[in-house]
Amino acid sequence: MTLILGVETSCDETAAAVLRDGRVMLSNVVASQIELHRQYGGVFPEMASRQHVLAIMPVVRQALDDAGVDWDDLDAVAVTRGPGLAGSLLVGMNVAKGTAWARDLPLVGVNHLEGHIYSNWVEVEGNNPDKDFPVLVLIVSGGHTELILMTGHGRYRRLGGTIDDAAGEAFDKVARVLGLGYPGGPVIQNAAQSGDERAFRFPRARTKNPYDFSFSGLKTAVLREVQRIEGRDSSASRKLTPGENLPPQTVADLAASFQRALVDALVEKTVRAAEEIGISEICVCGGVSANAVLRQTMRERAPVPVSVPPIYLCTDNAAMIAAAGHYRFVAGERAGLDMDVIPNLRLA
Ligand code: KG4
Ligand code: ZN
Repeated sequence: MTLILGVETSCDETAAAVLRDGRVMLSNVVASQIELHRQYGGVFPEMASRQHVLAIMPVVRQALDDAGVDWDDLDAVAVTRGPGLAGSLLVGMNVAKGTAWARDLPLVGVNHLEGHIYSNWVEVEGNNPDKDFPVLVLIVSGGHTELILMTGHGRYRRLGGTIDDAAGEAFDKVARVLGLGYPGGPVIQNAAQSGDERAFRFPRARTKNPYDFSFSGLKTAVLREVQRIEGRDSSASRKLTPGENLPPQTVADLAASFQRALVDALVEKTVRAAEEIGISEICVCGGVSANAVLRQTMRERAPVPVSVPPIYLCTDNAAMIAAAGHYRFVAGERAGLDMDVIPNLRLA
């Protein structure tokens, strides 16, 4: 049996969690900074680091209390080392190092994207059967969109990814264009509920590698449509807040049509890979996997079972870091106290 403390501070959530055997979630504490960053329309890096400094120790203590475990019960501390914001990553990294050193615990470094993948291994209400490899993984977060063939624990082959904007980034940018605020995913999903997804026909990008994605053309198409409706030229739109003069029904229709185009692209390419490569299951993860239309469409069209974490494990959390850390820990991996953060760390 292992008890792993996971620590995650790569972006704007301060998180700690305790997992048993990499799958049983004993606690999962997330202190969100969304309200703090909303006024800036996105994550303000220095504010994020400072907020992590304030929140991290209470969050870690809460994770241990909720799990009913003491430092002496733990087998290791797993911490996100990248990718992410350097100043944010450093806070979790130094807390993990300090506690590991003080309590004489092994330290394991975890790739944040690998953490997202392992959110699909966390047991929810005692049920989540183990997976047969190979599985096809779609990671869709604020900073990444990656299609990966996972052939075993810690074994990844990249099939494709975005060649420009990440899926979450597209949601966030389009939300701004529509005057809907931050973070974009939830506000667009919400606005889209009363919209007609066939109202606007947005482009589905073609890419040279059939497993790559491209969302910047879609984003620009939404912006052009907003400018056309508002009757402005592009130089005027730079001075004014876009979207603010649009009728609510138009915003809803634009949101729904954008969401449909983006989801269709994600699902089409994933389904194509699933059909061309023999796999037993599709795992979707990352903040955008919280999207209800993506979850439903993937399940409807996939030729194999689809695993998507519960919503609270889609966005950043530390349970996923403890889960990924467990598999690295049992494989014998140990980090030294000289482990550094890597803001642009890659998966494979
Ligand atoms: O994984 P995550 O929490 O952080 C990163 O590692 O980037 O992902 C955050 C992203 C944001 O772009 C946010 O707009 C998006 O996930 N997101 C959603 C939804 N909830 C969060 N996108 C679409 N639909 C949602 N319901
Ligand atoms: Zn993330």
